[in-house]
Amino acid sequence: MPSASRTRRKSSAKAPVGRKPRKPWGGRFAERTDPLVEAYTQSVSFDHRLAPYDIAGSIAHAKMLAKCRIISKADGAEIVRGLEKIRREIEEGRFTWRTDLEDVHMNVEARLTEMIGDAGRRLHTARSRNDQVALDLRLYLRDIVHEHDRQIAGLQRALLAQASRGQETVMPGYTHLQRAQPVLLAHHLLAHVEMLERDRERLRDAFNRINVMPLGSGALAGTPHPIDRAFTAKLLGFPRITRNSIDAVSDRDPALEYLAGAAILAVHLSRLAEEIVLWNTAEFGFVRIPDSFATGSSLMPQKKNPDVAEIARGKAGRAAGNFIALLTVMKGLPLSYNRDMQEDKEPLFDTADTVGRTLAVMTALVSRVSFDEQRMRNAVREGFTTATDLADDLVEKGVPFRTAHEVVGRIVRECQEKGRTLDQLTLADLRRHEPAFDRKSLRRVDPLDSIRRRKSPGGTSPGSVSAQIEFWERRLAGPA
Ligand code: ARG
Repeated sequence: MPSASRTRRKSSAKAPVGRKPRKPWGGRFAERTDPLVEAYTQSVSFDHRLAPYDIAGSIAHAKMLAKCRIISKADGAEIVRGLEKIRREIEEGRFTWRTDLEDVHMNVEARLTEMIGDAGRRLHTARSRNDQVALDLRLYLRDIVHEHDRQIAGLQRALLAQASRGQETVMPGYTHLQRAQPVLLAHHLLAHVEMLERDRERLRDAFNRINVMPLGSGALAGTPHPIDRAFTAKLLGFPRITRNSIDAVSDRDPALEYLAGAAILAVHLSRLAEEIVLWNTAEFGFVRIPDSFATGSSLMPQKKNPDVAEIARGKAGRAAGNFIALLTVMKGLPLSYNRDMQEDKEPLFDTADTVGRTLAVMTALVSRVSFDEQRMRNAVREGFTTATDLADDLVEKGVPFRTAHEVVGRIVRECQEKGRTLDQLTLADLRRHEPAFDRKSLRRVDPLDSIRRRKSPGGTSPGSVSAQIEFWERRLAGPA
């Protein structure tokens, strides 16, 4: 067993002045790396973001090595102290990132060796960058998924607050973007809350498979050193370790599953954004965006544009593209690690940033918009949205549904020709088309009547909607 008291050789990572230091893998190489190759293969310009996770992983690894007596306690302690110092250097912007050291892993290790010499050179015992990067990614993803979950809950709460206020607001529900049937605004908004809940479930489900510890897989085949993987896992808060070292270093499912879930989430956000764009048009006029959340035109003085929602709508393209990008990188790759997999990071970081910012801005936007109840009510009236209710009334009176549908269709056509709405019809008007209509039938054209009668579970009746609101208030209770 190596002893801490052994005289420390001067670190060979310390290069003579004016010369680039050797690569950590330089032993086998007779020539210096071509600068073109260095620039092309480096990942530190983007994977430096993994530094906090890389350091946390290395600290756990060093503690495990010391506990298993693979390195001395003193070396272990020195490594931990050194890594903590490096963490502070990075946090305070005092760390010099070097592209000739390729990636975050070798940058940190080289700096450690520069600081503490041979002890630093022992850190990489029983480890490869292949299992190291797999670990870093999983640690990073755990944080991102957690953060997204918190942010999605925030957006759900903003929608819920608007829904609570819109419990009596009637609006036309749409199919084919044509006015279809009256619904409560709250019911419509809660549909978005449902979509977001599935996004949370998807990410949480992915989390269970992300939350597995790959370190100790070595380059691909495991290690001859007597390591304790369960101990490392425990230090890093992983409930289990990967079972197969080849799979552990070649698997990018954690990133893929996250990107897939995030892409679906981004699509949901884009649908919400699109409704805000649409509803904010003069044509709809359902929603008002405050000036602080809109932008103007450099040419047309009258313009007030919903750019925030438009950009949020557009971001879904990036999130979908990033998922497809990594999926395509992985397709057909032979086991186990291949350098192609370095291409996982930029799409991953881009989606995490994009989705995080979109969630934040959409939450603020949803909280700040106000709804024009009058415009919605008018749209309900003008849209013949209670035509189904008239048909259902005839069904209750024994008329077959197909016949009732035909009759009410003719009534709507007549109204359209005469420029009338359904609520302007008299009983005599109705009876001309179908004698089965009676006084009660007139009530069926009232949108609120239509809404009240839709008591089927999950329908838009006030009872169903207030039950949904209660459900979400309970589910989303807790710190914002
Ligand atoms: N920068 C590399 C990546 O992102 C780290 C792993 C490199 N491993 C190797 N054997 N070159 O995948």
